[in-house]
Amino acid sequence: MRGINVAVACVCAASVAIYTARRRLKARQACIPVEIPRVGDSFAKKFSRLAHGRGGNQLKKLIGPFVTVPGVVHLAQGAPPSSVFPIAEVRLKLQSGDEVVVDDPGQIAAAQQYSVSGHPRLRAWCREWSAKTYAPPMADQDWDVTLTTGNTDSIDKLGSLLLDEGDVLLVEEYTYSTTLDGLAPYKPKMVPVEVDRDGLVPEALERACAGLVAAGTPPKALYIVPVGSNPLGTVLAPGRYAAIYAIAQRYDFIVWEDDPYIFLSYDSETGDHPLPATTFASLDTDGRVARLDSFAKFLGPGFRCAWITAPRTLIEKLDIASGTTTQNGSTFVHVTLHHLLTQWGDAGLRLHLQSLRQEYQRRRGVLLAAMDEHLTGLAKWTVPRAGMFVWVTLLRGSDDSADLMPDLLHHKVLIVPGKFFSPCGAGTPSARISFSSATDDQMQEGIRRLGKLLKDLPPSYVLMRGG
Ligand SMILES: Cc1ncc(COP(=O)(O)O)c(C=O)c1O
Repeated sequence: MRGINVAVACVCAASVAIYTARRRLKARQACIPVEIPRVGDSFAKKFSRLAHGRGGNQLKKLIGPFVTVPGVVHLAQGAPPSSVFPIAEVRLKLQSGDEVVVDDPGQIAAAQQYSVSGHPRLRAWCREWSAKTYAPPMADQDWDVTLTTGNTDSIDKLGSLLLDEGDVLLVEEYTYSTTLDGLAPYKPKMVPVEVDRDGLVPEALERACAGLVAAGTPPKALYIVPVGSNPLGTVLAPGRYAAIYAIAQRYDFIVWEDDPYIFLSYDSETGDHPLPATTFASLDTDGRVARLDSFAKFLGPGFRCAWITAPRTLIEKLDIASGTTTQNGSTFVHVTLHHLLTQWGDAGLRLHLQSLRQEYQRRRGVLLAAMDEHLTGLAKWTVPRAGMFVWVTLLRGSDDSADLMPDLLHHKVLIVPGKFFSPCGAGTPSARISFSSATDDQMQEGIRRLGKLLKDLPPSYVLMRGG
C-alpha cells in the first residue's frame, strides 16, 4: 500500500512539474507573468475587498528592487542624505550594567533612514527565530516573516486583509478586548467558542463550525491566544493544537495565533525555556496560520515592534499594507533591538527570559496570596498558568461585575469587568485582575479593598452564587 502511495506521490509530483514547466513556457511565449501555486495560496481566496483594493506603494515598488543593486545611480528616492542625520552613535545602558553600542556608520545611517520593509537584519533575526523555534513545515520559500509595530498592528492588518462585513470570526469565549474593539469596524460576525481550563475546547469548535456551515455562514478564521489567554490565564493543552488544526483544515479556515505570552508560562520544573510543546505555526502544512509574536512582553511595549510568521502569500500582502501605512515601524528601533539581541545571543536572551518568568511568577504568588487572604468565600478563581492575569468570579454582587464599577471607583481600586472580553458584550460576574504592573503593596491593598467592598455590599445587592 505504501509503495502505491509513494508511486502516486511521484506521479503527482512529476505531473505538477510538467504542468508548471508548460505554463512557464506558454507564459514566456505569450510574455505574460505567471503565478505558480504555492503553499499558502488558500489565504489568497480569503482576502477581503479592502485587500484587493490595496495596490501598494508605487514608489517602493519602483525603488525596492534596486536598493542593493551595485552601480545604480539613485535619483529616484526622496530619502535624506545620511550626512544630515543628527545622531552619530547610540549607547544603551542595560540594567545589568552592560552597554550596547551602535557606532557603525552604515547601521547608524540605516537607523535614521527609510527602509523598504523594515530593517533587514532584524527581519532576518525574526525569521531565524521562527525557523528554529516553530519550524513551519513548509518549503523555505513558501513562508516568511514581516515586521509590524506590535501585535495590535498585526491584528488590525490581518483584520483589514481578511475580514469583510459579515465574515465569521471564531474567538475564544472570553478574549483580548482590544482585538474585539480593533476588529469591530470590519464588522465580522464574532462567534464565541467554549473554553475550559485547558483552553479552547476542540469538540465545541467542531460543533460551532458544523452549525455555521449548516446555516450557510462558514467560518473564515479563528483568533486564538493559546498561551496565557488574556483574560483567562489558560494555556492550550498540547494535544488540542493538532485537534484544532485538523478542524481548521476540515472547515478550511485560517488560524490567527496571537502569542505574546509565549515566554511567560509558570510552574516549569526547570524554570528554563518552558516553551509550549507545539504551536499552530509548527503544524501548518497547508499554509493557513498567521502567527503573531511581539517584543512587547519580553523586551518592552514601548519598542512597538512585533513580527508575523505566515505563508509568503500573506506576508506579501502585509508588506503592501505596511508600505502605505506604518512602513513596518521604526528602523531606529529595529537597529537598536537587533544590536541588543545579537549582543545577548541565545544564551543572554535565555537568561533574560528566565529572570522575567521568575519575576512574574513571584508577582502572581503575591496576588494569589492576597486573594486567599481577602477574597476567600467572596470570589473564586483559577491559578493562571501563564500570562499576566487572574480571572476571578465574584460570588457577591449582581450578575454583571460592571455594576460594581461605581463602588470600585469609590474605593479607588480598578479591575476589568468580564464583559469587556466577551465578543457579545454579555454581562458576567467575572473580572480580570492583573499582576503585571502594581507593586506588591499595591496588589495587597487593592485586593483588601475589593474584599471589603464585596463583604460590605448591602443585603439587597448580595446575590450568593455558591462557591
Ligand atoms: C493577547 C494580546 N495580544 C496583543 C497584545 C498587544 O500586543 P502589542 O503590545 O505587541 O501590540 C496584548 C497586550 O496586552 C495581548 O494581551
